[in-house]
Amino acid sequence: MPDGPPAGGAACPTVRRPEGPRARRSAARWTVVAGPPTLRTMPLPPPAADRTALVTGASSGIGVELARQLAHRGHGVTLVARREEPMHRLAAELRRDGVRAEVLAADLAEPGARADLVARVGALGLHVGILVNNAGLGTSGPVHGSDPGREASLVRTNVEAVADLCSRLVPEMVRRGSGAVLNVASTAAFQPLPGQAAYAASKAFVLSYSRALRAELDATGVSVTALCPGPVATEFGRVAGFSAEETAGALPRFMWVPAPAVAAAGVDGLAAGRAVVIPGAANRVTAHLAALTPRRVLLPFLARSHPALKR
Ligand SMILES: NC(=O)c1ccc[n+]([C@@H]2O[C@H](COP(=O)([O-])OP(=O)(O)OC[C@H]3O[C@@H](n4cnc5c(N)ncnc54)[C@H](OP(=O)(O)O)[C@@H]3O)[C@@H](O)[C@H]2O)c1
Repeated sequence: MPDGPPAGGAACPTVRRPEGPRARRSAARWTVVAGPPTLRTMPLPPPAADRTALVTGASSGIGVELARQLAHRGHGVTLVARREEPMHRLAAELRRDGVRAEVLAADLAEPGARADLVARVGALGLHVGILVNNAGLGTSGPVHGSDPGREASLVRTNVEAVADLCSRLVPEMVRRGSGAVLNVASTAAFQPLPGQAAYAASKAFVLSYSRALRAELDATGVSVTALCPGPVATEFGRVAGFSAEETAGALPRFMWVPAPAVAAAGVDGLAAGRAVVIPGAANRVTAHLAALTPRRVLLPFLARSHPALKR
């Protein structure tokens, strides 16, 4: 299953292009955002020859669609992940559409690779006007059966890399008085999740961090949005170790939102200066209920129902 309470994810990378009237209708159907924009909302920095939108996790799933969304708005994109081949295919597609796109392969779990990444962007004569921290992974099962290496890798990718890239790239945005940060959290951020303990905690970090950073940056010209998807059919479920049966039975179909629509909601929300974006009405309701339900009621229920705790 993908994620969300209780989460799950199917294993199919989305390659549909968010174009045409059908795609626009689909995106409009799912584009549900939460919270009003601030009074001092800043628009996205406009596309410029020396400015890039750096998208992490751009080799698969939601990251591919976020890159497409930004490119379709005219932004040159810098694609970052470990697997180069799918990013080269995406870059070629975006260049055919007339935008600048380059691939910088990096393992974001490695502190040195993150420092190098920032230097490599600078060496291309680019500065990051839009930062999309989307790269992430899940694990599943009880902590007492977990692989310490996988759990550490999750924390380094989902938590450490988000804070590190913000620390490295937001200062220049503030100096320039212009920038935007989209951090991909999850509806799993709104409550602890037995069966995906580290994952939900990592996304709670991303949500809390993004809200605090946003408040710090008020009136600086730099905007911060947390995108909190519910279940999305990407490679996430397979990577997290969910079986096809667990994925199929995890969550009702109406909670699943296609990756292009999730990305469209995220970029629209970023451009509108929203604090938090939750694509899909059912996910928005579920997230708010989860945040409000007493933990002594919610957590035993989630522990009983999570498929990764029934194996
Ligand atoms: N699918 C869902 O149900 C769902 C729901 C809510 C939130 N999310 C979040 O959405 C984001 C994107 O996930 P997805 O669903 O699109 O999953 P996905 O298809 O598995 O994509 C994950 C992306 O992260 C990259 N990545 C993972 N570890 C990395 C590392 N160490 N260094 C660099 N890149 C790394 C992967 O690239 P490489 O493997 O090539 O490095 C890939 O491009 C994640 O943060 C996830 O937690 C997903």
